[in-house]
Amino acid sequence: NVARRPLIAGNWKMNAGGQDACSLALGVVEAARRSARVDVVICPPFTALAAAAHELWESKSAVMLGAQNMHPEPAGAFTGEISAPMLKDSGATWVILGHSERRQIFGETDELIARKIAAAIRAELQPIACVGETLEEREAGKTLEVVERQTRAFLDELAKRPGFGVIAYEPVWAIGTGKVARPEDAQEVHAMIRGLCASVSEELAASTRILYGGSVKGDNAEGLLGQADVDGALVGGASLDATGFGKIIDSA
Ligand code: G3P
Repeated sequence: NVARRPLIAGNWKMNAGGQDACSLALGVVEAARRSARVDVVICPPFTALAAAAHELWESKSAVMLGAQNMHPEPAGAFTGEISAPMLKDSGATWVILGHSERRQIFGETDELIARKIAAAIRAELQPIACVGETLEEREAGKTLEVVERQTRAFLDELAKRPGFGVIAYEPVWAIGTGKVARPEDAQEVHAMIRGLCASVSEELAASTRILYGGSVKGDNAEGLLGQADVDGALVGGASLDATGFGKIIDSA
């Protein structure tokens, strides 16, 4: 898959605000200098975006900045929400959307996530659109069915700008549990997602990067990233330590 640059994204979730964000960002900048052929994105919490953007700018780093969520409307009476143009303003160029924690804890639906993805693309923010089955769904043999439904919900939006958005497959049972998917199981789902992209257009299939997420660590990244349809990783816990995250960047 030479056409697709590997992408390693760190989802800090609700961690590493304030000063911690600045030191972690600088640690990632150092680690990323070793790998010029890998795209690296860090996604701090909202309140640390501007500070992290400042660090990346000062260090003239190619590391990019992303947010973890946004509201689909550009502005208005939505107390407590943040819009795509606001994220752009703070220096972000990426945004994670439809993360399973948003789906499960905050009740986000396929339909809402598709609206958010459309709004992100309109605002020139690259969406990292997340999909993934729960343990119950996997055990019921519904993995491909669930991931297909979630992917189809936003595929037309990604197709408006092939290669701009990326998809992250994160099996819910592998998130924060230390239980990583076997590389061949991840590959099976990634291949199915790429097939869905191909049903829209060859260009979409060839250009869309599909990341794996769920307990990716320095010592299991290589096997996953070696799969034909795994173009990178979306990393949670291991992205909070620059050395460990650096190892994952190295394996890409
Ligand atoms: O978005 C990344 C994430 O959900 C995976 O988390 O801690 O299992 O790497 P973790």
